[in-house]
Amino acid sequence: MKELIKKYNVPAPRYTSYPTVPFWDVDQFNTDTYLQSVVRSVKESNEQQGISLYIHLPYCESLCTFCGCNKRITKNHDVEGPYITALLKEWKMYTELMGERPVIQEIHLGGGTPTFFSPENIKNLISGILDGARVLPQAEFGFEGHPNNTSREHLETLAKLGFSRVSFGIQDTSTAIQKVINRLQPWENVERAVNWARELNYSSINFDLVYGLPFQHKENIEETIGKTLELRPERIAFYSYAHVPWIKGLGQRKFTEADLPKDQEKRALYELGCEKLREAGYVEIGMDHFSLEEDSLFKAWRNNTLHRNFMGYTSGKTQLMVGLGVSSISDSWYGFAQNEKKVEDYLERVDRGEIPIFRGHILTAEDLFIRKKILEIMCFGETSITDKEMGERGSTIRERLLPLQQDGLVQLGEKVKVTEQGRTFLRNICMAFDARLWRTSPDQQMFSMSV
Ligand SMILES: C[S@@+](CC[C@H](N)C(=O)[O-])C[C@H]1O[C@@H](n2cnc3c(N)ncnc32)[C@H](O)[C@@H]1O
Ligand code: SF4
Repeated sequence: MKELIKKYNVPAPRYTSYPTVPFWDVDQFNTDTYLQSVVRSVKESNEQQGISLYIHLPYCESLCTFCGCNKRITKNHDVEGPYITALLKEWKMYTELMGERPVIQEIHLGGGTPTFFSPENIKNLISGILDGARVLPQAEFGFEGHPNNTSREHLETLAKLGFSRVSFGIQDTSTAIQKVINRLQPWENVERAVNWARELNYSSINFDLVYGLPFQHKENIEETIGKTLELRPERIAFYSYAHVPWIKGLGQRKFTEADLPKDQEKRALYELGCEKLREAGYVEIGMDHFSLEEDSLFKAWRNNTLHRNFMGYTSGKTQLMVGLGVSSISDSWYGFAQNEKKVEDYLERVDRGEIPIFRGHILTAEDLFIRKKILEIMCFGETSITDKEMGERGSTIRERLLPLQQDGLVQLGEKVKVTEQGRTFLRNICMAFDARLWRTSPDQQMFSMSV
């Protein structure tokens, strides 16, 4: 394993989309064409499937210095009202465009920190979104809650609005690491929030944990997993710390790269965590995610209905995901579009009555084909690569996969199948299919390391 990690630990995309964002053909993108594809997708989504909504709530009260998300730090809560107004206006523009009553299968509130917003403002937002929409019986609504500021009232309000899933950002429970990343979060706060969620019948609680943080050692992982197991959340996302300071600016530069556990050391943290989670009955789903067998994510994995989009793995597949809010990405299946990344630009464009898209990509026939293949590898661990289906590109992909086969990461036949050992290297396996990556071979520093 040691040698394999050395060999395959290269910058690699996380494949929450194909093409990945740095390879979008932004010059060919046209917002009107994209919006037409949204309308097409609504028509093609049958009544059982509905659409997904991702709503980005960017504000946080203080900066965690490891954070790679799009956020705005402020203690001024006057920003809440105008932001909610803009989100509702943006949604109205979409519903007018769709021309029919939207059928909703999934809502996810992400951030930033959704629980920065008062329960009352969140209620106005969700009621406004649902007003005039139809919610599917199997719909799943979830939100990201910061344990330090998730109140019982937040959880109660959201439960009444149909939310049954909550994801808490935990990262690392040791005070020493929390100091380094500027995120002091007493364990009592986590316990309190989780207990409230259970009392209010939330069916799925997720913990976000991160390995590879600055100065993080095995003892920290042991403590973090040990505490996590005391509360036994249904899902755990165990993320590899992505050190991408060239994108996110100074926020991450409070520690240097020298303070980060590297390659083998980082991998050992992951393996320790995985081992403890497996021992405790968690099953690894795709990449980074663990779930208890009673959770819908595990069932989707078992039934081959797992899906992956910009939110990561999800149990409900929809053809259309509308992203609302600053920096959100929408996916019409035929195209991707991203909203303005600066809050001021976002607010200004919505105020002008524009859907605030600033860049995107329309998928070519080849993109659509490759997207399907990569999705199958990421979600099911296999995809067919018959000559009939692959045409000329088949031999090239086989050639690229050959070294991975020799290293025991995949089996090659009519299908490419990821082996147990290969699961660590899912990102590398997908890279063999990534025609745009191979054609342009850009500055690889735009991706974090694969392990
Ligand atoms: C928007 S935050 C979660 C919600 C809330 N803001 C909080 O911090 O509790 C989403 C998650 O992304 C993960 N994350 C953020 N920056 C990361 C990085 N640089 N590398 C890996 N994971 C990261 C963290 O696990 C974090 O909980
Ligand atoms: S980890 Fe969460 S709370 Fe911290 S800065 Fe990032 S989004 Fe905000």
